[in-house]
Amino acid sequence: MPELQTLIAEPWADYGLLDCGHGRKLERYGRFRFIRPEPQAMWARGSSDWRADAEFVPGSDEEGGGRWRFDAPVPREGWPLSWEEVRFTAQCTPFRHLGFFPDMAPVWSWMRALQPKSALNLFGYTGVGTLALATTGAEMVHVDASKKSVEVARANAALSGMADRPVRWIVDDAAKFVSREVRRGRRYDGIILDPPKFGRGPEGEVWRLEEHLAPLVADCRKLLDRDSRFLFLTVYAVRMSALAIAELVAQAFADLPGHVEMGELAVREEARSLLLPTAIWARWRND
Ligand SMILES: C[S@@+](CC[C@H](N)C(=O)[O-])C[C@H]1O[C@@H](n2cnc3c(N)ncnc32)[C@H](O)[C@@H]1O
Repeated sequence: MPELQTLIAEPWADYGLLDCGHGRKLERYGRFRFIRPEPQAMWARGSSDWRADAEFVPGSDEEGGGRWRFDAPVPREGWPLSWEEVRFTAQCTPFRHLGFFPDMAPVWSWMRALQPKSALNLFGYTGVGTLALATTGAEMVHVDASKKSVEVARANAALSGMADRPVRWIVDDAAKFVSREVRRGRRYDGIILDPPKFGRGPEGEVWRLEEHLAPLVADCRKLLDRDSRFLFLTVYAVRMSALAIAELVAQAFADLPGHVEMGELAVREEARSLLLPTAIWARWRND
């Protein structure tokens, strides 16, 4: 298995990790600044100026809970941001994030460079990854269990002036959808999957990463062939190593050309250039 690689999200016009330390992080999302809990930032922070528009104050329950405390007016319905040609609405969500995941930016750039003609985005959420690929002309299939998230993703497509792009927006359980695609004999050039630790499909189907990831990766393999370009898997908030998910992908793709790589995702802090890790990843590439 090759060396670990770190894929780094660099700051861009509408997003930056300003500072982090003492278990919290300070970020800018457009013209607003937010403080959120960050248990991995165990080091000292860089600056004492942590003025922010809002802070997410965690509840006593480590797994979730908590609420936003606003110290300045922030539009509750959200505000527009951009990444490259993609426009989307950022918003303070009850799940402590802002409606998109900036650490995914290097993943979007890498996939775009491979120029897939078709790609499947599983657990696609608010669609920034889907739209990032659609800008290159790829035919996209976007799947998420949440009707609300898919509505936001479609609204982001309209905001980006991309409502007419060939994207199928699907509200479904990721595992069920993929097994149906296998039965239909479909194939794709690329697949991206960013599964949560735990989730539910629209019919209450239970998703448990440790239990359901291996069969899902095996089914994804059946949707790709020797002319396909990639499968990109990211995993976060789970006690699991990049090596473990890379070995899983390597086993599933052993009969195809190409190779498997793995590593961590990290966000670069603007002031000190320090790297804040956010997730692990493994990918199969065939280019
Ligand atoms: C954290 S998000 C993924 C982030 C996304 N890839 C991005 O970069 O914006 C996890 C998503 O998985 C969805 N989800 C959870 N369980 C699911 C299931 N069984 N089938 C499909 N989607 C599911 C949730 O609705 C949520 O939108």
